[in-house]
Amino acid sequence: MKTSFRVLVLLLAFTAVAFAGCKEEKKTDPQAAPAQLSQSPGLELTVEQLSQYNGQDGRPAYVAVDGIIYDVTAVPKWAGGKHMGNTAGQDLTEVIKTKSPHGTSVLSKLPVVGKLIQ
Ligand code: HEM
Repeated sequence: MKTSFRVLVLLLAFTAVAFAGCKEEKKTDPQAAPAQLSQSPGLELTVEQLSQYNGQDGRPAYVAVDGIIYDVTAVPKWAGGKHMGNTAGQDLTEVIKTKSPHGTSVLSKLPVVGKLIQ
């Protein structure tokens, strides 16, 4: 009788530990949140904040056209945040419309990350 009581207590303790372990695993990593946020299409940046995303020192390269912010980080022709004398992290609406050979047609190929705000 004593032995079976001990076995029961041990089993209960084991179940409690197993449950605690499950809870632990479901915790979200708070450090993952900012990275996900910066990739969100709902990003809202001022011109000043956009200037941080210039593609230099491992930062993402974003450009704004007509109030929409596009991600050019993965575009080989925008390597290092530079493209035909232009630098990422800026509103290039005038430049793309008046000085580029392709115009705004290339924008449909780019991921939208957010919009420019005042
Ligand atoms: C917001 C500004 C700009 C954006 C987002 C942009 C984006 C792009 C992208 C995504 C490509 C690659 C196209 C592909 O491989 O299919 C490209 C190519 C190119 N861009 Fe730009 N560009 C911009 C401004 C300019 C400017 C100002 C110039 C020149 C003064 C320029 C000249 C070129 C040239 C010569 C190519 C290669 C030819 C081509 O693929 O059409 N771009 N650009």
